Formats: sequence, C-alpha cells, structure tokens
Amino acid sequence: MNPLNAHKGDILIVDDIPENLQLLFTMLTEQGYEVRRVLNGKQALNAAKIEPPDIILLDIKMPDLDGYQVCEKLKSTETTRDIPVIFLSALNDAFDKVKAFEVGGVDYITKPFQLQEVIIRVENQLKLLKMQQQIKQKNDELMLLNQDLKAFSYRISHDLCNHLNIINNSTYLLIEKYAKKLDEKAKSYLNLLEEEGLRMQQIIEDLLRLSQSQYIQMTFDPINLSVIVEEIITHLETDYRHQKTEFIIAPEVYATGDRGLIKIALENLLGNAYKYTAKTEKPIIEFGQLEINHQNVYFVKDNGVGFDPEQAKELFIPFHRLHTNQEFAGTGIGLATVQRIIQRHEGKIWYEAAVNQGATFYFTLKKISPLKSL
Ligand SMILES: Nc1ncnc2c1ncn2[C@@H]1O[C@H](COP(=O)(O)OP(=O)(O)O)[C@@H](O)[C@H]1O
Ligand SMILES: [Mg+2]
Repeated sequence: MNPLNAHKGDILIVDDIPENLQLLFTMLTEQGYEVRRVLNGKQALNAAKIEPPDIILLDIKMPDLDGYQVCEKLKSTETTRDIPVIFLSALNDAFDKVKAFEVGGVDYITKPFQLQEVIIRVENQLKLLKMQQQIKQKNDELMLLNQDLKAFSYRISHDLCNHLNIINNSTYLLIEKYAKKLDEKAKSYLNLLEEEGLRMQQIIEDLLRLSQSQYIQMTFDPINLSVIVEEIITHLETDYRHQKTEFIIAPEVYATGDRGLIKIALENLLGNAYKYTAKTEKPIIEFGQLEINHQNVYFVKDNGVGFDPEQAKELFIPFHRLHTNQEFAGTGIGLATVQRIIQRHEGKIWYEAAVNQGATFYFTLKKISPLKSL
C-alpha cells in the first residue's frame, strides 16, 4: 500500500457473492483504501458496530437481512447512524432507487462495476463526510465560543454594571452635595469623571444589547411596524430639542418577525435619524415601505448631516463611526446591532447617503406566510 494514502479511508463491503467482494476488494485496496469484507447483513452490522468504517458499500439482494433492512438498522443505531451507505445492485435486480434513499442510502452503484465509477462515487462520499466533519467541528467551536460570550455578557451585566453604577452614583452625589466646597479644578475633574462614567455605562449597555440580539430566542409574530415606530418617536420626542422634527410615518406597515428585536432595530435607526438631524434646520424623518422585485422593503429616511458612502464600508462593524464624539455622541454599536437583527430575520440592510443630504437605511425581512408559521 502507498504509505501516503494510508488514511484515505476505511471501507466495509457487504455482498453475498464472494467474487463481487473480491473484485471490489482488489480495486479499492489498490487505490489505497483500508477494506474489510463481509458476506451477509448480520456480519455487516457487527463489523460496523465494533469498528465503524468511513463508508459502507452494501449489496441489496442478500439472504436473511437484505440491504434495505441492514441500512435501516445502521441508521437507527447511534454509533453507525452517520456512516454513508452506497448501495450495490445488479442490473437485473428489482432495485428500488427511491427506497434506497428513503432508508438512508446516499448513493448507488449498479453492477457490473466500472472501476472509475466506483472510485469516484466513494471519493465523493468521503469528501462530503470530511466536509461535514469540518462543519461539525467548526460548529462545536462556535458553540463553545457562544457559551463563553454568554458567560462574559452575564458577568458584564451583573458585576461590571453594579460596580459602575456605584461609581457613577457616588460621582453624582459628590457633584450634587459637595461641589460648593470644591475649587474649579476639582469640579472639572468630577465632571470628567461623571461624563466618562456615563459613557462607559452606555458602551456596556449597547454591547449587551448587541450580544443579546445575537442569541436571544426568536419568535415570529405579525407586527404593525407603524405602531412601533410611533411608540419610539413618542419616546424620542420627550428629549429636549429646540427644532421641531417633522415625522412622516406610513400607516399600517406590517411585517412578520420578532417584536422585541425589530423594536431594537427600529430604535437604533430612528435614534440615528433623530441624532443626525440635530443640527438640521428643518428636520424631517420618514418611515415607510416600498416594493422592490415583489419584496417589501422598509426604510428610515432623514435629511440630516448624512455621510460619504465611500467612507462607510465598515459602518456595520461594532465601534465604527463616521462622526466624532464631539460632533455627535455615540458608541458605534447601534448599526452593528441592527445588522445582526436583520440577518437573524434572513433579511438585508443597505443605505443611501450623501454628505449634508441626509441618509436612508433600507431593510428587508424574510417573508413568512402566516400559514407556514402556524
Ligand atoms: N442617519 C444617519 N445619518 C448620518 N450618519 C449616520 C446615520 N446613521 C448612522 N450614521 C453613521 O454611522 C455610524 C454608526 O452608527 P451607529 O452604529 O448607530 O453608532 P452611533 O450612533 O452610536 O455613533 C455613526 O457614528 C454615524 O457616523
Ligand atoms: Mg446609533
């Protein structure tokens, strides 16, 4: 055997005709595979149980247990469930292709065998198997990472936030009760402390919302987006603002999605529209719906400072901002959160913007028919 091919794959061949076994054995051994041979279904099940092969070539017509029955048994046993089974059938056998797939087979080869065909089909299955194993490993790694992230954000919310709250409250009390006893320099230090403490709290809250948006269990409900938008606006409008903002809200805009998550997404988009029109003479914010290629597209549009799309390539990456904290305060986590939420709804998000000509954010959500969600 070619030592380079030593781990090409371990194949179990099951056929009640010794000549067939011998032929396949020779062919596959020459290709560098480890090959085991058995003459009936019972032996096959035993061999697969004792040492699961990478792949099984399984004859259909055999006395006692036939190939379909063997395959069903393999698929109902935990340790052998994932082994790909390729059926072998003679042209004059009554071979039921549909049944072969129904009982869990992945492919079939008809006899008399063509060397190249057998090899290609076996190689294909082994390639698939390898890819599945890689995906599974990546998935396991991701799950671990996700667990770490959950533990991490739990720690942040319960420990760091508590400590930070104490610091922020103490600063507030110092300013409120002792400011008169302090000189200007001490007061300016205290103000800085308050400002930075609040900013840190904001960053932690935004990061928590970002991570929660990624793993929170979703439900799909019919939602009236217009109503949610109205609620958010009422909240925004309680802020002090010298310019009166004109809101144009399309009524009766419906969607299906996770109410809580969609609300967070809209809060961020409308919050941005509100924030980035703060220096605009006649602020106008619009929420509406379009239909593009038979798909509902929702949008939040403003006539604020806008931005240069050329510089916005990383807009959806956490902490990326196009404006300084002096111009407009923010953490740069909002749009990343919105994007995760839209992604979880299998939708897309994009924008149109120009400097000093406002910005429009568009998004889609996966269309779910009410019948399907029942
Ligand atoms: N409506 C908008 N008008 C202008 N710029 C925007 C708008 N929405 C987002 N941006 C730009 O995208 C950046 C990222 O937005 P976001 O993630 O919500 O962070 P934040 O609002 O905290 O800065 C903002 O810093 C801003 O530069
Ligand atoms: Mg924002």
